[in-house]
Amino acid sequence: MRKPIIAGNWKMFKTNKEAAAFAEEVKGQAAVEGVESVICAPYTALATLVEAVKGTGIQVGAQNIHWEDNGAFTGEISGEMLKELGVTYVIIGHSERRQYFGETDETVNKRTKAAFKHGLTPIVCVGEKLEEREAGRTKDVCREQTVKALEGLSAEQVAQAVIAYEPVWAIGTGKSSTAEDANEVISYIRELVKEQAGAEAAAAVRIQYGGSVKPNNIKEYMAKEDIDGALVGGASLEPASYLQLVEGA
Ligand code: G3P
Repeated sequence: MRKPIIAGNWKMFKTNKEAAAFAEEVKGQAAVEGVESVICAPYTALATLVEAVKGTGIQVGAQNIHWEDNGAFTGEISGEMLKELGVTYVIIGHSERRQYFGETDETVNKRTKAAFKHGLTPIVCVGEKLEEREAGRTKDVCREQTVKALEGLSAEQVAQAVIAYEPVWAIGTGKSSTAEDANEVISYIRELVKEQAGAEAAAAVRIQYGGSVKPNNIKEYMAKEDIDGALVGGASLEPASYLQLVEGA
């Protein structure tokens, strides 16, 4: 049985104070039996958030990680730094990183390995752009990104990872994928994991859908066999809607 996981990706939203205020509002309400809830906040809010959500059932994630432990890498953050704060998850290879900051399949793979090295759970993002979907290349793109991201990981590590299928055209647009289409691609990704890491890892790995998930559509995705949760941007920013998402899962 895979435990559903709702992860909020706050992107570049919320100051330290705003993160603390969010935690204050969800206190006592965020724990739902059988659902894992995570918030991936900006680096500047991580330490505050880890403290503020203690006892709420929420875990804290970062939005990226460098593959080296330290060194001359201006602007980067290492796994050691995140781990020390009490962070447990990290988003890797989000399409915004790929699109605007030169993230490649190779760096995604290195960062994923670094997450495991430091005992953090990676949420590895894959997904096609609109033109790729229109050209019928959705599965090819997902294959390439997934296989490369997981290269060199052990079957045990793959089993513990989280993969987020986020079609780029559905992110922040209000145009979500239908639950049927999302489930079809996610089933395909699970098949890829099976080829690469074996049946046990494929049965255990959690695969989320992401892209315009809201409290009013979360249940449609959760009803699908292969969808194990959601990676949510906009709708994770308000305490009330975040709580509804976790409950909906
Ligand atoms: O990582 C979450 C994401 O990119 C989806 O964003 O705002 O469409 O839920 P949103």
